[in-house]
Amino acid sequence: MKTVLILGGTTEARQLAARLAARGDLDITLSLAGRTENPVAQPVPVRTGGFGGAQGLADWLAGHKTDLLIDATHPYAARISANAAEASRIAGVPILALRRPGWEPVDGDRWTLVDDAEAAVDALGEEPRRVFLALGRQEVAAFERAHQHGYVIRSVDPIEPPLGVPDATYILARGPFREADERALLEAQKIDVIVAKNSGGQATYGKIAAARQLGIEVILFRRPQLPEVLSAPDVTAMAEMVDHFVAPAEKRGV
Ligand SMILES: NC(=O)c1ccc[n+]([C@@H]2O[C@H](COP(=O)([O-])OP(=O)(O)OC[C@H]3O[C@@H](n4cnc5c(N)ncnc54)[C@H](OP(=O)(O)O)[C@@H]3O)[C@@H](O)[C@H]2O)c1
Repeated sequence: MKTVLILGGTTEARQLAARLAARGDLDITLSLAGRTENPVAQPVPVRTGGFGGAQGLADWLAGHKTDLLIDATHPYAARISANAAEASRIAGVPILALRRPGWEPVDGDRWTLVDDAEAAVDALGEEPRRVFLALGRQEVAAFERAHQHGYVIRSVDPIEPPLGVPDATYILARGPFREADERALLEAQKIDVIVAKNSGGQATYGKIAAARQLGIEVILFRRPQLPEVLSAPDVTAMAEMVDHFVAPAEKRGV
């Protein structure tokens, strides 16, 4: 049996783990950072918590005689992706990455691109607005300095401590989110502007499509730079890549 470590924390990582487990010829471990308080159930054994940088991950790969490393982390989890590429080099373990493509603007989109939360706060401007923050709790704190705005904040885990602003509403929810529901939320909350990451995929695109319908501005974080490794855009393409990787040499024509 070949041993595979999947770096996860995304829906695709979970789906990929299930798909590869169904083959029956791989010994798979899924790794989570441990940030989410109630992570969803996973179809394969899970290990949780940081490795201690690239060297720590390289040591783990060697210690567990890993044959293949798959980086299926979130597109904005840039540090672990850089560590994964480096650990692959140190340990001499091949790496594949599942890189979900970002969304592209279409006619009617009103996007403002920014590099980080500080820039997003600046982009909101001075005039009070109704702002929908669809961000993780790490990024939300930056908005405290712009307390003239009213915020609706949706996150998987509670924002603790709450944002020190006079007007904030919290919604705890985990995607996928349907476009019709997103539109209803934007209208009910009288939202003027959304701040979000360009996550790509369908699960969180509903708010982008709904914003387009309603003519609402979207402040989008630019994608971070990720290391260049052999990659696939979705679970099916990645499963095929793994197929090729674990196939006997004669089947690959070697
Ligand atoms: N950033 C986002 O917007 C976002 C959104 C949804 C889900 N996630 C998921 O949440 C996790 C953390 O994201 P992040 O933005 O904090 O990442 P990050 O900034 O790239 O990583 C920070 C540190 O967290 C540890 N880590 C991250 N992912 C890990 C994993 N899958 N397994 C073990 N350790 C991991 C590593 O610690 P050591 O250096 O000690 O190994 C890494 O150096 C990732 O698994 C990611 O897929 C992130």
